[in-house]
Amino acid sequence: MNCFLVEKTETDDVRTRLATVAIPELKEGDVLINVKFSSLNYKDAMAATGHPGIVRNFPHVPGVDAVGVVLESRDSRYSIGDEVIATGHELGVERWGGWSSHLVAPADWLVPIPNGLTPAETMTIGTAGFTAAQSVQALLKHGCKAEDGQVIVSGATGGVGSLSIMLLAKLGFDVLAVTGKLDRHDWLRELGANEVVGRDALSGNEKRPLLKGEFAAGIDTVGGPVLATMLKKIQHRGCVACCGVVGGADLSTTVYPFILRGIALYGIDSAWCPDDIRADLWRKLATDWKLDDLLESKVDLSLTTMNESVEQILAGKFSGRGVIHIDK
Ligand SMILES: NC(=O)c1ccc[n+]([C@@H]2O[C@H](COP(=O)([O-])OP(=O)(O)OC[C@H]3O[C@@H](n4cnc5c(N)ncnc54)[C@H](OP(=O)(O)O)[C@@H]3O)[C@@H](O)[C@H]2O)c1
Repeated sequence: MNCFLVEKTETDDVRTRLATVAIPELKEGDVLINVKFSSLNYKDAMAATGHPGIVRNFPHVPGVDAVGVVLESRDSRYSIGDEVIATGHELGVERWGGWSSHLVAPADWLVPIPNGLTPAETMTIGTAGFTAAQSVQALLKHGCKAEDGQVIVSGATGGVGSLSIMLLAKLGFDVLAVTGKLDRHDWLRELGANEVVGRDALSGNEKRPLLKGEFAAGIDTVGGPVLATMLKKIQHRGCVACCGVVGGADLSTTVYPFILRGIALYGIDSAWCPDDIRADLWRKLATDWKLDDLLESKVDLSLTTMNESVEQILAGKFSGRGVIHIDK
């Protein structure tokens, strides 16, 4: 199979190359997929640079997402020719992932492509969109309604951020997008944000434990001081869905947003999301939550230029959803 291989040299340097290697052996319950598209997530970029928190064994193939056609199946649920999506679990982390022409994955980790989505659309969604969908679902389950007020989204031009904005706008929410990219304000408005502001809005410089409760809810893809500041700005009984770490893993806060305003903080984990919730959210993304303008956020990529795309996303300079055309 042809893949993007991450290797460690004898001097412990991390190197990447396009390689042709043997397809891993299938075990009982595994499925072999001919991958058509994969995608670029922040976690993939960490894997592609050999981040020790993501990759423990080398050589490694990144890619937490893949879509393609079943070539061989050792599980009764899937047959040759089925079109399937593989996301999360250990893909591209403990196991070789989707930046490859072929992928061997346990059948338990697969979801048939739902009617209503093309393969390229499923990868435009990918783990980032699935995480956005889980975050929006957390807000809805909390009881958030469009009339409650504005919803703030951080890391707005990123994969999770941009798709969160699109989903919230589709569901009628008034969205304020927070971005560090001055040149992407118009694009964020096109995606559905009603207001776009710079990162200063959540800079974390304000030391008071609570600030004016401006927002009904929030989706934070950044973490660190950005999340701490967002919590201070949520109205009484509002909530925040937290999923990201690009701005830092530490969370320095007081209990006041929780005990004086009754704010709830929901953690979002996409890798091991229970199967029934995963299947239900993919069905929603193909029906009621289907984004007519989904492809507006798609950026076409190829395995041959992934090193540049990895550098861009790690520097916070990538916008939208990178979809990798595997056979390009
Ligand atoms: N919990 C889960 O299961 C799960 C699933 C998927 C992703 N994630 C995490 O969610 C985060 C976003 O993932 P993604 O794939 O959407 O990444 P992404 O495309 O790189 O988006 C992150 C965005 O955050 C902003 N940003 C970057 N560095 C920043 C910094 N130092 N301070 C403030 N803002 C910064 C940038 O947007 P602006 O320029 O617009 O500000 C950037 O585009 C990552 O931490 C990822 O690991 C978690």
